Amino acid sequence: MKKHDVLFLTEDATHDDIIEIINDEAFGPGRFAKAAQRIREQGPHDRALSFVATDNGAVIASVRMTPVLAGSVNGHLLGPLAVRPSHKNLGIGRELVRIAVEGARKKGSEGVILVGDPPYYGPLGFEKVAYNALEFPGPVDPARVLVVPMADDTHARLKGVIGWRG
Ligand SMILES: CC(C)(COP(=O)(O)OP(=O)(O)OC[C@H]1O[C@@H](n2cnc3c(N)ncnc32)[C@H](O)[C@@H]1OP(=O)(O)O)[C@@H](O)C(=O)NCCC(=O)NCCS
Repeated sequence: MKKHDVLFLTEDATHDDIIEIINDEAFGPGRFAKAAQRIREQGPHDRALSFVATDNGAVIASVRMTPVLAGSVNGHLLGPLAVRPSHKNLGIGRELVRIAVEGARKKGSEGVILVGDPPYYGPLGFEKVAYNALEFPGPVDPARVLVVPMADDTHARLKGVIGWRG
């Protein structure tokens, strides 16, 4: 595969089945027990801010974004992010995160939040949320709760419950 064969597209309903397969492959059935997944089950994700990467027409990676109210921050929850094993370490994950974050910023989001590995997401602009400031609908490791702040006071207002925002 050549890098220029990869296209980044806005998600639509025709991608749903393959995204399920990619997420199953990346996370296994345990993914349904995650606290972030419980938020995603509260309401639909925002397709306009969710993206797939294709290689020769085949979807090989996906990122989804879900609107959330986090404390008083009108933000977005990023995830799941998954890249097929055949296409790892080509910068595709990073590019999907970049596109999703910039899309949210343009749409007026006050912050993109996720539960993930700081060494991966730190260089992409994510900062640690104050320990236990956000109350998820299930246990999370507070060291893995991260945000790209998009308003001056985003960090200060990330305090309280996080849940789906209609
Ligand atoms: C994590 C994942 C999305 C990365 O996608 P990718 O397209 O392979 O990553 P990129 O090419 O953008 O970046 C690769 C770099 O990130 C590093 N990296 C990958 N996963 C990492 C992690 N969990 N922590 C720290 N660094 C990580 C790689 O070692 C590589 O480093 P290098 O550039 O110094 O060689 C992909 O491996 C995946 O789908 N994993 C399974 C699902 C998952 O864990 N999702 C993230 C949830 S937090």
